[in-house]
Amino acid sequence: MRRPENELLASAAAPDYFHPVNSEPSPPAPVRRRVAPPRGWRAEVDYVLITQTQLARRVRELSREIERDFTGRDLVIVSLLNGTVMFLADLIRHLSLPLRLDFMGVSSYGGGTTSRELVFTKELRLEVRGRDVLLVDDILDTGKTLQTVLAKLRELQPREIKTCVLLDKPSRRVENVRADYAGFEVPDLFVIGYGLDYAERYRNLPFVGVLKPEIYQH
Ligand code: IMP
Ligand code: MG
Repeated sequence: MRRPENELLASAAAPDYFHPVNSEPSPPAPVRRRVAPPRGWRAEVDYVLITQTQLARRVRELSREIERDFTGRDLVIVSLLNGTVMFLADLIRHLSLPLRLDFMGVSSYGGGTTSRELVFTKELRLEVRGRDVLLVDDILDTGKTLQTVLAKLRELQPREIKTCVLLDKPSRRVENVRADYAGFEVPDLFVIGYGLDYAERYRNLPFVGVLKPEIYQH
């Protein structure tokens, strides 16, 4: 793959961990394909939106970009429970960086998808003051979760906060919040698997998929 000339010049002149300030994280990969689910899931899953192979490749790419951007920093990864379990495990195993890891529990209660109240079910325990925080979530939908968590984290006075999500659903955004690192851009569909749930189920699917409509109807 060809690299822009300014990047080649910069890497010739500087140690290889140096990266020019203008190197932006890659944009989220679009998803378009529908793949038949594995036999065991065909009764419930309509189709696979993002395959295991696609997930592995893209998560590795995100790791590489994070590694590049956080080299030499005092990194604390703050991951939101429970949806990030698979994504986080795959993301951090490829990070050859010193880092600290902590979790915050956030749940939304209340009816429907518009008037939800966020409840913190687990508080942060690590000190983040003066450190560089990478906030990880499974999906950026309306943005209410990230917005609320960001406000809470800012009060703890970290040096910097960056956000990283596996999936971005920009068509549903209500709050003005963006992800610095995003794995895939997904259409306005409710997705499950690879950590994401419907009624606490399907988190263990190794792919991201779409449920059959009848599953939501009972
Ligand atoms: P937001 O607060 O609307 O941005 O939504 C973020 C949270 O809602 C995520 O952390 C998920 O737990 C949940 N969520 C939003 N969309 C989906 C989806 O398509 N599938 C599963 N969970 C979702
Ligand atoms: Mg969640």
